[in-house]
Amino acid sequence: MNPTVQELVAALTLEEKAGLCSGADFWHTKAVERLGIPAIKVSDGPHGLRTQREGSTDPNDSIEAVCFPAGCAAAASFDPALTRRMGAALGREARANGVQILLGPAVNIKRSPLCGRNFEYYSEDPYLAGELAAGFINGVQSEGVGTSIKHFAANDQETRRLSVNSRVDERTLQEGYRPAFETAVKKARPWTVMCSYNRLNGSYASENKPLLTDILRGAWGFDGFVMSDWGAVNDRVKGIAAGLELEMPGSQGVNDRRLIDAVRSGALDEAVLDRAVTRILNIVLLAADLAQRPAAFDRAAHHRLAAELAAQSGVLLRNLGALPLHRGQKVVYIGAYADRPRYQGGGSSHVNTTAVSALDAALLHDRMIQYVEGFPADRDQRDETEFLRAVTAAEAADVAVIFAGLPDSFESEGADRRHMRLPDCQNNLIARVAAVQKNTVVVLHAGTPVECPWAGDVSAVLCMYLAGEGVGEATDALLWGDANPSGRLPETWPLRLEDTPCYLDYPGDGRTADYREGVYVGYRWYDARRMPVRWPFGHGMSYTGFVYRNARLSANTLAEGGEVKVCVTVKNSGAVRGAETVQLYVSDETGAPIAGGRVPQVLRGFSKVWLDPGEERKVDFTLTPRDLAHYDPARHAWYAAPGRYLLRLGHTSRDIRASLGLNFG
Ligand code: BGC
Repeated sequence: MNPTVQELVAALTLEEKAGLCSGADFWHTKAVERLGIPAIKVSDGPHGLRTQREGSTDPNDSIEAVCFPAGCAAAASFDPALTRRMGAALGREARANGVQILLGPAVNIKRSPLCGRNFEYYSEDPYLAGELAAGFINGVQSEGVGTSIKHFAANDQETRRLSVNSRVDERTLQEGYRPAFETAVKKARPWTVMCSYNRLNGSYASENKPLLTDILRGAWGFDGFVMSDWGAVNDRVKGIAAGLELEMPGSQGVNDRRLIDAVRSGALDEAVLDRAVTRILNIVLLAADLAQRPAAFDRAAHHRLAAELAAQSGVLLRNLGALPLHRGQKVVYIGAYADRPRYQGGGSSHVNTTAVSALDAALLHDRMIQYVEGFPADRDQRDETEFLRAVTAAEAADVAVIFAGLPDSFESEGADRRHMRLPDCQNNLIARVAAVQKNTVVVLHAGTPVECPWAGDVSAVLCMYLAGEGVGEATDALLWGDANPSGRLPETWPLRLEDTPCYLDYPGDGRTADYREGVYVGYRWYDARRMPVRWPFGHGMSYTGFVYRNARLSANTLAEGGEVKVCVTVKNSGAVRGAETVQLYVSDETGAPIAGGRVPQVLRGFSKVWLDPGEERKVDFTLTPRDLAHYDPARHAWYAAPGRYLLRLGHTSRDIRASLGLNFG
């Protein structure tokens, strides 16, 4: 009989217990051989495996792995079943490579489009982020590999990310920055949570008891362990008491010593250390046990899956008719990204792989296209000859497809963007091409919104975000109509940076990031101010059309403790198979005063349905009073005032097809 965790904890020395609370190296926990406690391996990351090659001494020397769509793109699928499939594939790949915990998903809120890490994150909306994260976690963990949802919490900028103090009021935290974690913890039970580098209201996340214990464990029932982001520990003794169990990657024993001294001096109750070790061992033993199961994965199948997911994540932002392309048309591809696509971001999520380009995919499909580089992929530099070649070729073609995007140096972990623009050389070329070619299509490869001053002058815009290694096949399929675009924007695309909610405050003064916009993040802000935007939250077009009918409620009133069903029938009214993502927004029309202001509407449900031409399907959602509620800091609780609410069913946040009144209370 193997010893129980309690028996192991009782048998461990103080030194061994302190040791188990930090990593052995960059990626491993410590083993205690005399008691048969194994080490486990953790590795990045949220859209592909970045794990150190066996025998290598360089933590960045990663094995080759499959790169799936980054968070920005995966979120545009609006489909938790899809993030689940992606998670399951990652879980298989992790296990086949000896990794027991995958460091993801990353669910921080896209407070500003400037955040350098937005490409890894899902959304400006915590409901959407939470549902997608739960899918991802369930997928990974269904394969016997753990996850580490990150970065907990309010870690929404890269500027001074190691020390910045995010100053966020209680309602804003509750409504904006906690729910993605809360949903994921409650629905998917991640094995671990990764606390962030920053301070939150004065206290480092790594030693923030309200965050790591009262909320995470007390309110949400988290039963795994918390690990630090890499090097995020400030005061180790304070941290363990606050609920930070594992320090990663470790401090060469310095902090272990501090824990030992604190126990010896009586500053730290040994029971606190025992509790931390128990939580770690619960997971370590489970992980080690599951790691015994046979493991294999099919690289080619995973590549195909990456391409399929990328195709479901592409967002058709505009189409006056240039798409889909047709055989027989004279098509020119312009822009270096056609040949060398940008499909992932820099930093800890970077996967060692190669991608298929749109040009490769065109060749594979025997498409007759011309290619002109036009501008480089890695810098903002105009080459006059290339520029003119591109304009001439565009003029002579039936359709010009410009592959635009952000160079690697424009967005990456560790730095925020300074502006929201594409390189000038790209904007100028797009404008020139659009002036001579009415069928101009822009394909965007960027992890985050960019200003699109030419948007009204081109025929079509297809946003691929950072779509992973299948980007070329997916883009090809979407452009040529072999796949029907079904992605939706998981974030608002503003007209310009100056319109964004925290424009005046971001990224703060170097010490403090003041979340003065409060709950008004993303569409909550643009809707409250009735601002025009480039493309609204939830937007995305298709090659077919959808009709909504028969929207109804199961009852017109809802009482405390009850629930109500909202249904609508959606029909594919066009000629090709396609997907509609029905979105449900709730508006509080009670008129009751709300401290901090009333948000015009919030997303409380979404459902993606694939329909054949002419096919119709009933879509339904179940709402409870909590879905009507805002967080009331005076009550320290979620609160829905009695009165009237509107349930708004829409194609996007700004294209509402049916509104239903509901009385509460
Ligand atoms: C990042 C984490 C990552 C870790 C390990 C940190 O710098 O913030 O997201 O998982 O490194 O690579």
